[in-house]
Amino acid sequence: MRVLVVGSGGREHAIVRKAAASSLVDEVHAAPGNGGIARQARCHAVADSDIPGMLDLAGSISADLVAVGPEAPLVAGMVDALEAAGFKCFGPRADAALLEGSKGFAKEVMNAAGVPTAEFTSFIEYEAAMAHLATISFPTVIKADGLAAGKGVMVVGALEEAEAAIGKCFVDRAFGDAGLSVLVEECLVGHECSVLALCDGETILPLDPAQDYKRIFDGGKGPNTGGMGCYSPVPRVPPELVEEIIELVHRPTIEELKHRGIGFRGVLYAGLMLTGEGPKVLEFNTRFGDPEVQAIFPRLESDLVELMLATAEGSLGEHSLSWKDERSVSVIMASAGYPESSHKGDIISGLDADGQLEGLEVFHAGTAEKDGKFITNGGRVLAVSALAPTFREARDKAYAGVEKIRFDGMQYRRDIAEEAVEAEG
Ligand code: AMP
Ligand code: GLY
Repeated sequence: MRVLVVGSGGREHAIVRKAAASSLVDEVHAAPGNGGIARQARCHAVADSDIPGMLDLAGSISADLVAVGPEAPLVAGMVDALEAAGFKCFGPRADAALLEGSKGFAKEVMNAAGVPTAEFTSFIEYEAAMAHLATISFPTVIKADGLAAGKGVMVVGALEEAEAAIGKCFVDRAFGDAGLSVLVEECLVGHECSVLALCDGETILPLDPAQDYKRIFDGGKGPNTGGMGCYSPVPRVPPELVEEIIELVHRPTIEELKHRGIGFRGVLYAGLMLTGEGPKVLEFNTRFGDPEVQAIFPRLESDLVELMLATAEGSLGEHSLSWKDERSVSVIMASAGYPESSHKGDIISGLDADGQLEGLEVFHAGTAEKDGKFITNGGRVLAVSALAPTFREARDKAYAGVEKIRFDGMQYRRDIAEEAVEAEG
């Protein structure tokens, strides 16, 4: 089989590594890929936003399966175009990807399906949104409706901050068209977790849960990022709670979409807050989490390509998942300036010739290769993932790996999985 992975981040490197390890797969291709992905896949210079280019590429390599990693091409209809041309794809079509592409649509579906989520009001006018602020209490959450690369969510503690956030959307147009519709949302309190599930329209197969760290600094301080580290599984989310969440969130959502004539095939990722009133949805994503899968996939024993194929073909019901009985910890190393900006071209030292470290899995996100050396090429640069029988050992292993790696201005959190180590006792 020939598999084409669309995207260039750590998530796509994780998919590529699983694909390269699959007994079904002869060739792994990636577009556009990155410095580390190029060690396991043939990379092609086609941007993940280039739908006609991706169609040509899939045709020229006779792809048997195209796995689309990021949200933007899903929302833009890459899967629709590829499927119409006869390619099998892993990832939802545009109508289903709208669950991630429009927070307002996601809320409307959740309300219709009875899925618990934060109370909200949405606005398409600046003045109305500003007037609403006088009627609510703080903290509150201001969200740009559309895709904003993880930056369109602002948790604000006071009126002035909320006004600035609304201004950022409507006046500064900081999120472009994505911010022309704005949600003002109840601020939920509790522990967050990510529950991802493969869905073929009928069968729902949950992956083991993961805990992401969204803020840039230790202790959950500083601005939100795409994710600075992760661990899996999550002690506070045992298998019974995962099942409960699937029945409370994923199943009614998939059923509601089905009522509307929308089939969901791909991965439905629920970002949840575990509140005193039970789990509530913060957001839906319609793709694998990054860095969630850098922690989840190293534990997954099942063949990911077989599962992605079954998802595309609607035969997930014949499959189950098996997991290594180990704990997984993944630490993100980011470049100088992240998340506001990123620094490119800094030489990365400490990795072996394949961009790996012995006994660990290193997933490349923002890397490129120049003159035989890996260099930084984006905000999140690497994810260093470790497996071990306990969280303590996995965490120590991951950080021992991180300490071997150097590049100018590198930043990483020191507290990834600390709470899991504590929970383990
Ligand atoms: P999202 O992209 O919607 O997951 O939002 C990014 C982050 O903002 C989440 O991971 C939460 O930490 C925070 N967040 C989003 N919505 C809420 C909410 N209603 N209450 C509290 N925090 C939230
Ligand atoms: N880790 C958050 C995300 O993938 O959106």
